[in-house]
Amino acid sequence: MLKNFSLLQKSVRLLALSKSRLQFFGKKINVTFIDRRGENVEVKARPGDSILDTVIDNEIETEGYGICGGGIACSTCHIILEDTVFDKTLVEDPWGEEECDMLDNAPNVTDFSRLGCCVHFTKELEGITITIPEGQDMR
Ligand code: FES
Repeated sequence: MLKNFSLLQKSVRLLALSKSRLQFFGKKINVTFIDRRGENVEVKARPGDSILDTVIDNEIETEGYGICGGGIACSTCHIILEDTVFDKTLVEDPWGEEECDMLDNAPNVTDFSRLGCCVHFTKELEGITITIPEGQDMR
């Protein structure tokens, strides 16, 4: 009886996992970054992680990138997406007013710009290329 109760508790805990936590256990996706030097960097990204975290974790940009730590207060995590990918990111991570305000102050903004801290990987983003444009000098 006690063993069955324990199994039931485990099952309830598994069912309570959020979608993003479940993605943590999912298969990683292939992503190519074009860094600020124009070089391609291929990485495996975990669905559920933000683009900011993936850039930092893989040391793609180490200086002056994401300096507010994802607080939507600096725009140094500016990224440029492919046009078709841009629309896909809006499904899971729609525009917010703060993101728009921050991008107004970012250099080299395009129609497909977003903040890396506001976009999270999903399995639908398999194979995408993300450009990290020249940033503003925050020193
Ligand atoms: S890390 Fe500062 S706005 Fe994204």
